[in-house]
Amino acid sequence: GKVRAPTHIISTISDDRGEEPCYAGVPMSTIIEKGYGVGDVISLLWFKRSLPRYCTQFIEICVMLCADHGPCVSGAHNTIVTARAGKDLVSSLVSGLLTIGPRFGGAIDDAARYFKDACDRGLTPYEFVEGMKKKGIRVPGIGHRIKSRDNRDKRVQLLQKYAHTHFPSVKYMEYAVQVETYTLSKANNLVLNVDGAIGSLFLDLLAGSGMFTKAEIDDIVDIGYLNGLFVLARSIGFIGHTFDQKRLKQPLYRHPWEDVLYAK
Ligand code: ACO
Ligand code: LMR
Repeated sequence: GKVRAPTHIISTISDDRGEEPCYAGVPMSTIIEKGYGVGDVISLLWFKRSLPRYCTQFIEICVMLCADHGPCVSGAHNTIVTARAGKDLVSSLVSGLLTIGPRFGGAIDDAARYFKDACDRGLTPYEFVEGMKKKGIRVPGIGHRIKSRDNRDKRVQLLQKYAHTHFPSVKYMEYAVQVETYTLSKANNLVLNVDGAIGSLFLDLLAGSGMFTKAEIDDIVDIGYLNGLFVLARSIGFIGHTFDQKRLKQPLYRHPWEDVLYAK
């Protein structure tokens, strides 16, 4: 019989061999004819399926709300400093992206992991938060540098409102809110942040859409797809900051001596 030559690469998300490229089997022309948006393209290329409109719209809202948060956050700062050092667009962009991680923007996957585990195991917020404290782990998705009980993050509220209106269930988000109620009793800035809101709500999206098996949801959470939303979104802002600095012909940045504590 025929023997298939072994290949060096396996790929399952896109194919450019035919007349037109396909994303998860959907041809480009269909994507355009059906008026698909970025949320649909993300669902095809990341999740390998067409998700219902309320899901793709939620993805687009995440991207829009996380696109930028001003020049002072760590990633934008890096991008600005790099652009002002005369570096190119890609260098300035990746310099900003490299700050995305457990403290800044990259806590979405861990928030989803920990909230899911705690909620599925039926832990009370007290048991969950105090258990994390004992392990010396900050609760991902909780806490913010400038947001607090009296200065809530509008993005979180907008995401919650959308989900309340469109999602069949917001079980994980409600759990995250219960955790927030407990952490706020400890300190004013321990609010549910945008990473925690997206992490918990994406669990609700995955479970409530009926489009994913339990094993697929576990895989998405284990592999860690969700920080991708912040990376993708904030790239829009970092690219904007790069253009802004170039347009303004900003000189090389040097941090002022006065703002450094030279200590022995
Ligand atoms: N869980 C439990 N306790 C916390 C948490 C948390 N997530 N965040 C702060 N605390 C408590 C701790 O007791 C901390 O003391 P420690 O340093 O001994 O652990 C104390 O508050 C003070 O913490 P600060 O370092 O002053 O808090 P800061 O304002 O610098 O931190 C930050 C903000 C980095 C967001 C922090 O809350 C955190 O690490 N959160 C978890 C990670 C996360 O969700 N990051 C995403 C933020 S949203 C975004 O970037 C788009
Ligand atoms: C952001 O989205 O960049 C912010 O939430 C982070 C910050 O420190 O304000």
